[in-house]
Amino acid sequence: MKKVNYNDISRIYDDVREEERAIVNSFLNEVEITDTTKILDVGCGTGNYTNILEKITNAKIYGIDASEGMLEKVKEKNKNIITKVGLATDIPFEDCAFNFVYMTDVIHHVTDINKMFLEFNRILVNGGKVCISTQSYRQIDLRYMSEFFPSTAAVDKTRYQDIEEIIKLARENGFRLIKNQIIDEGKEVELGSDYLELLEKRGYSMLHLITDEDYKDGLNRVKNEIKEGSIKRKSAGGTLVWLVKNK
Ligand SMILES: C[S@@+](CC[C@H](N)C(=O)[O-])C[C@H]1O[C@@H](n2cnc3c(N)ncnc32)[C@H](O)[C@@H]1O
Repeated sequence: MKKVNYNDISRIYDDVREEERAIVNSFLNEVEITDTTKILDVGCGTGNYTNILEKITNAKIYGIDASEGMLEKVKEKNKNIITKVGLATDIPFEDCAFNFVYMTDVIHHVTDINKMFLEFNRILVNGGKVCISTQSYRQIDLRYMSEFFPSTAAVDKTRYQDIEEIIKLARENGFRLIKNQIIDEGKEVELGSDYLELLEKRGYSMLHLITDEDYKDGLNRVKNEIKEGSIKRKSAGGTLVWLVKNK
């Protein structure tokens, strides 16, 4: 399989992505955040979620990412966020350092989920919470991306773990499921020139993993659809897997 290079993607990532308010709201509803709460964003990327959390709470916010290029963007955005290069499977912080750990749109890049949960268990206090934002296989099939670029669905099912698999591995590593929260599924979205620009910049990692022919075919499909103006589709939404570390 082709590789995704986030040091390259970091240059355009913020042109094509921003935080989802439903995810931020879920964090604020589920976690009691005070000025002593320590929060770690694993695979924080350019800091879209760390930045907003730092601005709207008084918690101590940390971010790790495998890509130095992505972390450079966090520093440009917000100097109060403490960042370190690190992997989900090898987190550069001491035991019991955090009250809340989250990852948004990252777990499909992690190859050893068992090791990741072992690390989450090690760095969290007892009763600490985890939120994993991802998509189920059903939601991958529902994506309009899968309609326009059909081969992305198969590629992503080889990278993503389905929700039950994530929960099983979490349970085996000392976590209890709080809930699976489905967000934004079925929400109407309008796709126009912004969406086309995003696709032309290959702003989603799965577009780097299909053949150039499939990519060009998909791009033409979108161009034909939106040449009369914008089109409407339903969002596939996401799944938030909420877990708590057993006491
Ligand atoms: C799709 S981006 C998501 C970034 C951010 N969480 C967001 O929602 O905007 C995926 C990020 O995961 C990082 N990443 C990939 N594999 C990783 C790993 N094993 N450990 C930590 N970060 C990783 C990439 O460098 C990239 O910044």
